[in-house]
Amino acid sequence: MKSFKRYLVTSALPYANGPIHIGHLAGVYVPSDIYTRYLRMKGSDVISVCGSDEHGVPITLKARKEGITPQEVVDRYHELNKKAFEDFGITFDIYSRTSSKVHYDTASEFFRKLYDKGEFIEKSGGQYYDEEAGCFLADRYITGTCPHCGNGSAYGDQCEKCGTSLSPSELINPQSTVSGSKPVLRDTMHWYLPLDRYEPWLRKWILQEHTEWKTNVYGQCKSWLDQGLQPRAVSRDLDWGVPVPVEGADGKVLYVWFDAPIGYISATKELTPDWEKYWKDSETKMVHFIGKDNIVFHCIIFPAMLKAEGSFILPENVPANEFLNLENDKISTSRNWAVWLHEYLTDFPGMQDVLRYSLCASAPETKDNDFTWKEFQARNNNELVAILGNFVNRTLVLTNNYYEGRVPEPGATTPADETVLAEIENIRKNVETSLETFRFREALKEAMNLARLGNKYLADSEPWKVIKSDPERVKTIMNVALQITANLTIICEPFLPFSMQKLRDWMNFETLDWNRAGDKAILKPGHLISKPGLLFSKIEDEAIQKQVDRLMEIKKANQAATSPAAPAKDPVTYDDFSRMDIRTATILEAEKVPKTTKLLKLKIDTGIDTRTIVSGIAEYYQPEQLPGRQISIIANLEPRKIKGIESQGMILMAEDRDGRLVMVSPSEKVSNGSMIK
Ligand code: MF3
Ligand code: ZN
Repeated sequence: MKSFKRYLVTSALPYANGPIHIGHLAGVYVPSDIYTRYLRMKGSDVISVCGSDEHGVPITLKARKEGITPQEVVDRYHELNKKAFEDFGITFDIYSRTSSKVHYDTASEFFRKLYDKGEFIEKSGGQYYDEEAGCFLADRYITGTCPHCGNGSAYGDQCEKCGTSLSPSELINPQSTVSGSKPVLRDTMHWYLPLDRYEPWLRKWILQEHTEWKTNVYGQCKSWLDQGLQPRAVSRDLDWGVPVPVEGADGKVLYVWFDAPIGYISATKELTPDWEKYWKDSETKMVHFIGKDNIVFHCIIFPAMLKAEGSFILPENVPANEFLNLENDKISTSRNWAVWLHEYLTDFPGMQDVLRYSLCASAPETKDNDFTWKEFQARNNNELVAILGNFVNRTLVLTNNYYEGRVPEPGATTPADETVLAEIENIRKNVETSLETFRFREALKEAMNLARLGNKYLADSEPWKVIKSDPERVKTIMNVALQITANLTIICEPFLPFSMQKLRDWMNFETLDWNRAGDKAILKPGHLISKPGLLFSKIEDEAIQKQVDRLMEIKKANQAATSPAAPAKDPVTYDDFSRMDIRTATILEAEKVPKTTKLLKLKIDTGIDTRTIVSGIAEYYQPEQLPGRQISIIANLEPRKIKGIESQGMILMAEDRDGRLVMVSPSEKVSNGSMIK
């Protein structure tokens, strides 16, 4: 295996038009942070760069909708997201942004170099233009009727009903989703990167020379390459982005996916004057952490750009993850179906590591995976609290009790002690191998095995019993337990940095040197530790229920917003209609029907009589709110017995799309018994 002098770790630049959620964290930033922390602890020369991706059409549309400038949109989310990463201990060496001057210069220069080398082709063609909004339309901002299946809301790039991929000109009755107007075709010219020219080289570089890439990544690359690559436009007609640095290119900017990955370069430049060492020396290992929707850009397009430019290195690996779902449903910013980082911390203050842990433990490494609050609770209660927290706590408390906090001098060891001590080194090696091959779940499991081992060792050797009969033996036991604990502070650090910092403080043991992990005598006898607090605490059912309830509320609201109105019923004659006695009435009394949850018994003044109606509205109305309310009823519905009560008619209710029932009342007070017609 090739060995490297230094590392350049990049993490996908999140779009600065929305906050960061757990899907981002699990897919990209927790793994990249674990990897970087590990490399730093090994003493490697490593930098980790990230920042906001601040261009692209969605940002301009959001600005338009809110009546602010795109710069104001990205300023807001850049700060919010930068802080969210800091709060969760994601330790980038720089969190830059693509609206910075350095980036504009770097991206322009990059484009210009390719342009001057003749690496682009220029092509003109008709593209849809929205005259009302005054902008060209990206394919997915055009809808129309699919020419294949007749679906009336197909997108300019694909029909989601029949799955056919489309070009906007194929749509029947195209419509702009920006203004709702009918777009017109306008001629425009763009620069294209002829990816087809790089196909043979890419095939060799990926399919032959990078067979070690994760199968989900390798597979996606292969399928792109097998379909054949086409020239890709690298410019757009838009007034937000890096202007195309060519004479006469007014109104044209670099395509967001052209400038964004160059953002990794700009960020490095901003970080260090030595940036070229990271980008242009073949002894640098570059690793891109991304989600699966970014694979083609990082494995095919960006490498082709770098290759065309000629002076840059290529990524050694692109450990892309699949997607994380939330409670069995796709995470979606627009549907608000997500757990937002900034909100998590209000409900679970100080519990960053619990989220980092459970996201790493169920990271979507090889296939999509599901985050559930129940599992989150179980990971905390059954693993962090019951295994790691419990072991550490027992060890530190007993050391304080027996030896006033001093690490005891060990006596003779038993074979069992030796096995346990030797295992520390094995575990360290296993964690290393897993991390270096980007298997973070496995690495975490292995690290936890050290705590499991410690727990079992204490349970088997029972120092709390032996202390009476053989206090000398207990010195050895506690020494072993303390060596394990000190090793845990190193081995668990990349995963649980907040908790390990606490533990190091309690242990008065500050080393972050990975290479020392495995040392069976890492703590010297006599070393003084202090009194521990609790490393983790149990999460109760109520806290979890609150989160689940919040999501259920969102689900209901989404269903109401998207479910269509009930279809029209068959026609009836006026005669049919006039046979119904629909009239106004006033509720006189209301009470719950015993032993039911939905039913209310109502006494009603109909203008012609006073009668009883049983109605299934108890979930929506409290009995005490009702007396005096004017309502509408059907008065000549055949009487019916409900729970033993004769119901003489029915109250008219509107049923909202989320199932909620609302009374239909006259908009002004009228006399009881007024006919509704
Ligand atoms: N903003 C993109 C996304 O969130 C990722 C950009 S990655 C980079 O999907 F290559 F552009 F940096
Ligand atoms: Zn279709």
